[in-house]
Amino acid sequence: MQGKFITFEGGEGTGKSTQIKLLAEYIKQKGKNTIITKEPGGTEVGQEIRRLLVCGDKDKFDALAEALLYFADRHVHLVQKIWPEIAKGTWVLSDRFADSTMAYQYYGYNKRLSKKIIKDLYKIAVGNFEPDLTIVLDLDPKIGLARSFNKAKTMDVKELRFEKRELEFHNNMRKGFLMIAKQEPKRCAVLDANKTIEELHSDIVKVVQERLGL
Ligand code: TMP
Repeated sequence: MQGKFITFEGGEGTGKSTQIKLLAEYIKQKGKNTIITKEPGGTEVGQEIRRLLVCGDKDKFDALAEALLYFADRHVHLVQKIWPEIAKGTWVLSDRFADSTMAYQYYGYNKRLSKKIIKDLYKIAVGNFEPDLTIVLDLDPKIGLARSFNKAKTMDVKELRFEKRELEFHNNMRKGFLMIAKQEPKRCAVLDANKTIEELHSDIVKVVQERLGL
């Protein structure tokens, strides 16, 4: 039997990585094989692409170059990991996927790039495949960015290229995620991330039960 593909989306510091681990535990308890992966950087090649994208000067390349690199990472990720795992029956949980490119590279940069380019790149790199469920963690960027900068203090390599962008970028990107979810309500569920870890986890489990029957 085919597995499932669940993606976690949202701005900086919304608690995606904590919540994805908790959901993986829940899924395991239900007797399913599951893996956690992420974008960018879910494969070895992806790790190299990730370094280009998240480190260094915030203006080192433009939105189009970013989108191309994110989709290159995504294509390798799908071919080498996501598709083979789903075919084996695994429930694949990904910390970010293509909605992040629409939210950051299109909405974040205030539509500097055309939406058609992102949609065309999706067709080329991903095809007709899409997540079974996308959980959008919604949070005021002011709160999320503060969490992110705090966490970075403990990291050797500072992955703060996007955090360095102005608040307007983050507010646009947040609106973008909400817009995507509104346009695709069957696939997406928006959850208020300004809650305790336990509360948010139970909201996520409720969505997984309702939408995927687990
Ligand atoms: P992470 O910090 O959640 O691992 O994600 C890395 C950064 O890359 C984060 O600032 C969001 C950004 N990003 C995009 O701008 N576009 C994308 O398509 C993806 C997957 C991430």
